Amino acid sequence: MSKEKIKSIQIEAEAAIENSKTSQELYDQKVKFLGKQGALSLLMREMGKLPKEERPAFGKLVNEAKSQVEAVYQKKEALLNEQEMASQLAKEQLDLSLPGVGARVGSRHPVDIVSKEIVDILARIGYSVRSGPLIEKDRYNFEALNIPADHPARDMQDTFYIDEDHVLRTQTSPIQIHALEREHLPLRILAPGSVFRCDADISHSPNFHQIEGMLVDRKVSMADLKGTISYFVEAFFGKGLKTRFRPSFFPFTEPSAEVDCSCFICKGKGCRMCGHSGWVEIGGCGLVNPKVFENCNIDPKKWQGFAFGFGIERMAIIKYGVSDIRLFSENDSRFLEQFQS
Ligand code: DAH
Repeated sequence: MSKEKIKSIQIEAEAAIENSKTSQELYDQKVKFLGKQGALSLLMREMGKLPKEERPAFGKLVNEAKSQVEAVYQKKEALLNEQEMASQLAKEQLDLSLPGVGARVGSRHPVDIVSKEIVDILARIGYSVRSGPLIEKDRYNFEALNIPADHPARDMQDTFYIDEDHVLRTQTSPIQIHALEREHLPLRILAPGSVFRCDADISHSPNFHQIEGMLVDRKVSMADLKGTISYFVEAFFGKGLKTRFRPSFFPFTEPSAEVDCSCFICKGKGCRMCGHSGWVEIGGCGLVNPKVFENCNIDPKKWQGFAFGFGIERMAIIKYGVSDIRLFSENDSRFLEQFQS
């Protein structure tokens, strides 16, 4: 056991470290020379075989060799780390001119698109938007609209009852009552919104949307109503499309009419969409029933009005040729994305 042996192991270790080409190779050399079972550690263990007086000097020599090897190791480690980092960065260079990965953006719902379009058209002639609660008192959904408890018209609208006095609104007409109670006359209001009926098949959904319109002024006639709806139909579906009224019944209007417009698809010639009649129904309308005014403490001798209610999905179905009303609430993005302009 000699100084020379220590020196030769040290030289061998330093050369092996210096010659390492990767940090993995370097690590292997660290284990080989400096690890617990490494050459330098084993030398320490052999120290026991030496005469006692020689041990301190030998130990010191081994320790010095060890720390010199360690210093060489650390330098080499830093160098290799730096080189490896540089080569990795060179490999992973970012090309900022490449197109990015597009994020999927949502789109507006067709009910919302159509609703806004209707509002925009009627805003041009002085209408502005109101809203109301989805859960209504019986008074607003029925009673004040002249649909008393035993009235057969209640059967026209299969109702979801919350309790004896509250319903999920079956129509947007209750917003007429809120407006008549709260606002100054004359007024022109529009109320788009969700409504609920206990009904579901290809053309009925338990939740759909309507838009209500109401005008109240000193002198209002069916001719004003017809003019307004005709203007709207041409603006929404296209120039030249006709509007016709068919006599009908609604408790809150008198007289009442069903509104048809000439079929958007065949322009009145007759096709599958309109059942070969040339006409499609878009909603109901009429002159505000004096009883509705009275129910809201308004004098029907001083004020007159008209009202109308359209189904928003129905308008979208007609305009876009959609086959099933349930598509609007299924939220299949392949359907919803088709309505973007
Ligand atoms: N609320 C009616 C319904 O849901 C639609 C309606 C008809 C609204 C005539 C009106 C109207 O404002 O005047 O069937």
